[in-house]
Amino acid sequence: MFAANWKMNHAPADAEAFMRQFLAYYPRTQDRTVIFFPSALTLHTLRLALKDRTDIKVGVQNIHWEDHGAFTGENSATIARGTGAKYALVGHSERRHVFGETDEQAGLKVAAAIRAGLTPLLCVGETLAERERGDTIAVVVRQLREGLGKAEIAQVASCLVAYEPVWAIGTGKTASPADANSVHSAIRQELRTLAGDRSEAVPVLYGGSVNRGNAASLLAEAEIDGVLVGGASLDAEAWSAIART
Ligand code: 13P
Repeated sequence: MFAANWKMNHAPADAEAFMRQFLAYYPRTQDRTVIFFPSALTLHTLRLALKDRTDIKVGVQNIHWEDHGAFTGENSATIARGTGAKYALVGHSERRHVFGETDEQAGLKVAAAIRAGLTPLLCVGETLAERERGDTIAVVVRQLREGLGKAEIAQVASCLVAYEPVWAIGTGKTASPADANSVHSAIRQELRTLAGDRSEAVPVLYGGSVNRGNAASLLAEAEIDGVLVGGASLDAEAWSAIART
């Protein structure tokens, strides 16, 4: 699974130009899923550019936990679904650390996504201070429990999870494949606690300074089922190289 998080980049005209180039490089492929998370304002343009490529999915970077109401500036999962989104990022580290989003809100957003028929991609990961204190596993387990703990087993089994160590995002520092794999093992174990055997269906992606040079070694690890990429997904050629890994 190859997910591109464009963050606050690529206006509609840039997205059209990107997609013309990307589609030329990226043939239809059966054995993988590519998902784009553009700005909510660019999502419609991207969907139109992808109308003949139903193999490529789109999602939103954030949703509100309510379905509708007086929440100026927000988008609900229902509205996202109506614009053609199939996925929603929940609890991305920038939402948690720049916008102060809590574990509890992440749990409410997972529930809202499921209610609206969107697949949530819950992001978890420790800060550098938490890592240095030896709290990495405790932090990701807490974020998983709060994020997915209220969902039913069948719902947990249809979610996606991404491990994104905060210190590796946009810094050029990547967790070593072996380090990332051991955190992924702990995530897998907690998913089993939450959803039993059905949790085997949950893909666990790695994110944090993934690029065309390191994607293959990360994806070679047994517990890493895909990548969630920021910076390197903004360039059509670089992203198509990663998506073809
Ligand atoms: P970078 O790939 O730019 O480090 O961003 C990772 C990320 O936050 C993806 O959601």
